[in-house]
Amino acid sequence: MDSNSDHHERCEAWGLDSSRIPKHVAIIMDGNGRWAKERGESRVFGHINGIDSVRLSVESALELGVKHLTLYAFSTENWNRPKEEVDALMDLLVDTLVKEVSELSNKGVRLRTIGDTAALPDSCQAQLKKAAESTSHQNQLELILALSYSSKWEMVEAVKSIIASGRKAEDVTAEVIADHLTTKDVPDPELMIRTSGEHRISNFLLWQMAYTEFHFSSVLWPDFGKEEFIGAIRDYQNRERRFGGVLDTNHNVQTK
Ligand code: FPP
Repeated sequence: MDSNSDHHERCEAWGLDSSRIPKHVAIIMDGNGRWAKERGESRVFGHINGIDSVRLSVESALELGVKHLTLYAFSTENWNRPKEEVDALMDLLVDTLVKEVSELSNKGVRLRTIGDTAALPDSCQAQLKKAAESTSHQNQLELILALSYSSKWEMVEAVKSIIASGRKAEDVTAEVIADHLTTKDVPDPELMIRTSGEHRISNFLLWQMAYTEFHFSSVLWPDFGKEEFIGAIRDYQNRERRFGGVLDTNHNVQTK
């Protein structure tokens, strides 16, 4: 990684404050279908073109020093889509992992997943395992793919495992619950981006986003590039985050 002053200059060139880059950005990548429809193409064509935006977001996150990037790539609800579309998305995931994993690793990206990955096809599970293992030592950016993920699924799993652990009701705290979520070792996202002009949270990281800033972009996901990613961070930096308390001049929370 380059020096602090390089990082500072790079952020400044984009009009960003290098000391207030969010550590964790989460994205709901939406609008692939509409993007394809506008071009008279199949929905799958939109997903294929969405991969470029994934690449650009990863590159932007690396450049700015974001440490965790969570992408909502396939929700629990997405299983209800036509079989051809589901199959094509799974194939796309496997193909992309095969093609990109060594490049990701070279850039210092560690890959992991959250979600009910046991529900994914075997070939997908095998590729994901391989990609996670081969990048496990990387530490510039953690790329978290939410696959067969929904917050309600995650919370049900958390409750089941808390009960199975034999804890008494009075010992269940917010920390205990957070510790049983799939994101237990990841800081909560400071910023969530949703593309395509939709203003919904769609069962994504509901617990983790209690204090997250939301940036809604009207741009469809395949058109979401570096400028848009950086614009979202700029928007975030223009907000005051209070967490229900008071901020000091360094934007640190003084009281909750
Ligand atoms: C939402 O657009 C997009 C998805 C459900 C899939 C997103 C997946 C990708 C961009 C590929 C992911 C691959 C990797 C390797 C991370 P939509 O189909 O809901 O669009 P619409 O709302 O316009 O119909």
